Amino acid sequence: QVIGVLFGGPSAEHEVSCASALGVARALVGGGYQVVALGVTRQGRLRLVPEETLSAHIDGTAAARAIDDRLSVTGSAVELRAGERPGTALVTGAESPGEVHVVLDVVFPVLHGPYGEDGVVQGLLESLGVPYVGCGILASAVGMDKVAMKRALRAEGVPITPHVWFDEHTYRTTEDVEKLVVGLRRPLFVKPARMGSSIGISRVTEDDDLAAAVEEALRHDNLVVVEQGVTGRELECGVLGGTRPEASTVGEVRVTGGWFDYQQKYFGDADPMVVPAVLPDEVTERIRDLSLRAFAAIGGWGLARVDFLYDETTGELYVNELNTMPGFTAHSMYPKVWAAAGVGYQEIVDRLVALAVE
Ligand code: DAL
Ligand code: MG
Repeated sequence: QVIGVLFGGPSAEHEVSCASALGVARALVGGGYQVVALGVTRQGRLRLVPEETLSAHIDGTAAARAIDDRLSVTGSAVELRAGERPGTALVTGAESPGEVHVVLDVVFPVLHGPYGEDGVVQGLLESLGVPYVGCGILASAVGMDKVAMKRALRAEGVPITPHVWFDEHTYRTTEDVEKLVVGLRRPLFVKPARMGSSIGISRVTEDDDLAAAVEEALRHDNLVVVEQGVTGRELECGVLGGTRPEASTVGEVRVTGGWFDYQQKYFGDADPMVVPAVLPDEVTERIRDLSLRAFAAIGGWGLARVDFLYDETTGELYVNELNTMPGFTAHSMYPKVWAAAGVGYQEIVDRLVALAVE
């Protein structure tokens, strides 16, 4: 099978995606698949990336930057089209139409954030009729939109963080927002509804800082969510499968400074991940069960990482996030929680490709 690995993309998580794609491409090659690396530049242009460019680098964000730089200068401009054989896609030279580079059997969109993880690319792939890895259009869109995600989870009885939301048109003044958040315990987390990797998020302890936080979130999205801060532990669980998905071991992210921001996530020195998380068995089981229920609530397929907030003193446990294309480097939480459950990186990738064509 020929697998097209889509990576990069115009979202703020471009670099993370490059790093994830390196890991995925290696595992695919190791699994005997033929890999076609399709880089998406920050401008949204598709580039066929030479195999040497991928394999010459080791995993990590430094390598990802190198790939990113090269993406814009090397790699030939290509287009994705529907293949003549149903269920395939064609990669053709965009500058010389008709010049067929390769036929793809499956596309693996290793893209994080808006465009790649929110249903946009999934819709493109649906329209081409080529099977792709991971969640479909709706689940991707719901997973990315924090407002839609919370509604879907609440409807299925999955506990979510107390929150309010508004869009830029409904609420214009700080007083409006202050009235809305009256019932929420401080600190507050102010977030753009549709972003990833903690981008645009502020932690607000003093209400005086609320306006600036809302402004920052509005820079990234016209929909804003304000959540009650849950002081507690950040726990994460992987989901893998199709009609009968499975939940992994639970992992913990040890945060410093109150929350796990972009800097710590990708450029921190210390490895903040503890796998498995040290928890009472019943809490672990509850998290695994809720992960599967959350996955079902959005209509997930293939994979997701479900992130929780757990306050040990009160026993409160909330689903905070659902990532339908979680970070996928060799050092990312998703492969780690599966490794602890006895499922290696290679096996995850094999299973995901099989699920794409199921
Ligand atoms: N959005 C990043 C990639 C994650 O959740 O892992
Ligand atoms: Mg995320």
